[in-house]
Amino acid sequence: MMENRLTVCRDNVPIYDIVLETSFEGLKEEVDKLALKERRICIVTDSNVAPLYLEEVKAILDTCCKYVSVYTFPAGEEHKNLDTVRGLYEHLILEHFDRKDVLAALGGGVVGDLCGFSAATYLRGIDFIQIPTTLLSQVDSSIGGKTGVDFDAYKNMVGAFHMPKLVYSNLATLLTLREEQFSSGMGEVIKHGLIKNKAYYEWMKEHREGILARDLDLCRTMVYESNVIKKNVVELDPTEQGERALLNFGHTLGHAVEKLKDFSMLHGHCVGMGCVAAARISQLRGMISEETVQDIRDTFLSFGLPVATEGLNWQEVLLTTKSDKKMDSGSIKFVLLREAGDAFVDRTVSEEEMKAGFDLITFGGKKEA
Ligand SMILES: NC(=O)c1ccc[n+]([C@@H]2O[C@H](COP(=O)([O-])OP(=O)(O)OC[C@H]3O[C@@H](n4cnc5c(N)ncnc54)[C@H](O)[C@@H]3O)[C@@H](O)[C@H]2O)c1
Ligand SMILES: [Zn+2]
Repeated sequence: MMENRLTVCRDNVPIYDIVLETSFEGLKEEVDKLALKERRICIVTDSNVAPLYLEEVKAILDTCCKYVSVYTFPAGEEHKNLDTVRGLYEHLILEHFDRKDVLAALGGGVVGDLCGFSAATYLRGIDFIQIPTTLLSQVDSSIGGKTGVDFDAYKNMVGAFHMPKLVYSNLATLLTLREEQFSSGMGEVIKHGLIKNKAYYEWMKEHREGILARDLDLCRTMVYESNVIKKNVVELDPTEQGERALLNFGHTLGHAVEKLKDFSMLHGHCVGMGCVAAARISQLRGMISEETVQDIRDTFLSFGLPVATEGLNWQEVLLTTKSDKKMDSGSIKFVLLREAGDAFVDRTVSEEEMKAGFDLITFGGKKEA
């Protein structure tokens, strides 16, 4: 029997379950455990996910709750903002949602972050569940309780920690995901292996073809392993004081690239490039070999991620990195590798080292595919 359930705890007290299935069939049983028969629930979803999965999920929740309402907003990061939150608050008020009622996020990370933030703040906090439908949201954003929205050009500037009551991942939803969205999720998946589990990283490489074909058994094993890593890290450090920073591997330079490209590149793709750059810095420090850096680069490439980009100016990258949230009292927080599968936080990365990492991910003068 394949493992399909994890329980996230805080101080050894169970907070919520993560359930991995290949259909929505098990959703009723899981939601019934939350005893919502006398509650209203509002499904929050986006305009791409609604035509695919809303009807089925609504029909199931209809049997678990007193009343099911739906709030659909236009898909896209540009709608993860306070205007959409305002629209949702209005909807909830008109629908007379009270403190005991519940929200359900049906969609990717944008829906999960926005719904979670709305749940954290409506009436000073109501419960919510996550039904993530992208690889990125199944392996990353639905777990750990970080919620939030963008504010003007500032990503995730407004937010709250608010834990879901349940995370139900139907792996079959991955089958309708566009290729670039799947590879963006793979950016975080490969990152998980690199920071915590070399065997998992090797397993991914071995099963590349099946994973890319989205074999659901392989996807379930993969999402499960990634969930174990994320769960362990967030349990040790629920509010991101220390250990959780390891999850930022690849994000220091990755965020700078993402920002300077005006968010035209997908998050996981930028993270992949950031991982390659951080691997180079680790190599310069004598911790990993050049072959390992090459292997890491090849791995991202083989899963459909870009490993270099062009049109970026180093001085701008440096400035952007310095103004990022990962700056910690004046020094840049970098995550480096002792080896594949073993990461640590370092605050002493110099500008020269960063430049060397950056050089590997920019086509610059040296053209290579
Ligand atoms: N809270 C956290 O800890 C955390 C962590 C990482 C990322 N995030 C956030 O997550 C967001 C990115 O999430 P994402 O990559 O899931 O993006 P997304 O939610 O925008 O989804 C990507 C696209 O796929 C569509 N889609 C979703 N599920 C689908 C399916 N099953 N089939 C077909 N299309 C589908 C969406 O409508 C959207 O167009 C960002 O806003 C990021 O800041 C949050
Ligand atoms: Zn990320």
